[in-house]
Amino acid sequence: MKTGGLFCRNSREKKKEEKEMERLDKFLTSQNICTRKETAQLVKKGLVTVDGVCAKDPGQKLDPEQSRVTVEGKEIAYRRRLYLMMNKPRGVLSASQDKQRKTVLDLLPPELFRRGLFPAGRLDKDTTGLMLITDDGELAHRMLSPKSHVYKRYEARLSKRVSQEDIAAFEKGISQGGEAFAPARLWAEDTPNGPGAIVEIREGKFHQIKRMFEARDNRVLTLKRLKIGGLSLDDTLGEGEVRVLSEAEVKQIFDGKLY
Ligand code: URA
Repeated sequence: MKTGGLFCRNSREKKKEEKEMERLDKFLTSQNICTRKETAQLVKKGLVTVDGVCAKDPGQKLDPEQSRVTVEGKEIAYRRRLYLMMNKPRGVLSASQDKQRKTVLDLLPPELFRRGLFPAGRLDKDTTGLMLITDDGELAHRMLSPKSHVYKRYEARLSKRVSQEDIAAFEKGISQGGEAFAPARLWAEDTPNGPGAIVEIREGKFHQIKRMFEARDNRVLTLKRLKIGGLSLDDTLGEGEVRVLSEAEVKQIFDGKLY
């Protein structure tokens, strides 16, 4: 009995250890150091070490928490949590999984995929732009809480021009369908394709911006998120593209939150 218990525990521990091991190329990609292809080249040139030993195989396994990895002589400071910025395309769900429809997680390249990742906050299926994907639940909660006053900025194309009355109503706080929305900022910004606006909200209620314009007898034709707090969408990212955020960029989310 005792031996059986020991066996179970040991095999469980072994499995856990195996799960926690990661391929060298995946590790370097997740740490925003280089791509898988670049890792292969660096390894070939003998420029990568793991625990003081020159790496021979980009697929070799290491313990991300424990192993000391250097690239071209520089030690990699491991970041446990992953923060990704995606330029969400229209037609994709901001959910972790869906049986039928494509989600933002389905768009991640395999080297950036990890267990525990989720989109922090919802964008409608037809909304495009800045989406944060992370495995840091605490940060997501802080970023999404209206109490944190992290404003999210959107660019909307509209069916009608924004008036001074609309701006004042947004500033005061709109109510629609028995629901009250917190004060929001609104600027008229027409586009070459018609009327438009920039809107900043600090909540993330269902279809919030669409409903706020509806309450003003206006209609959102397209919606794109440009900014979360002080973090702007990287305009070099094409729709559906994703990249790792640096620590400084993650901090920008909470910068300048009091507009
Ligand atoms: N408001 C909306 O109406 N839709 C979004 O996707 C985000 C904010």
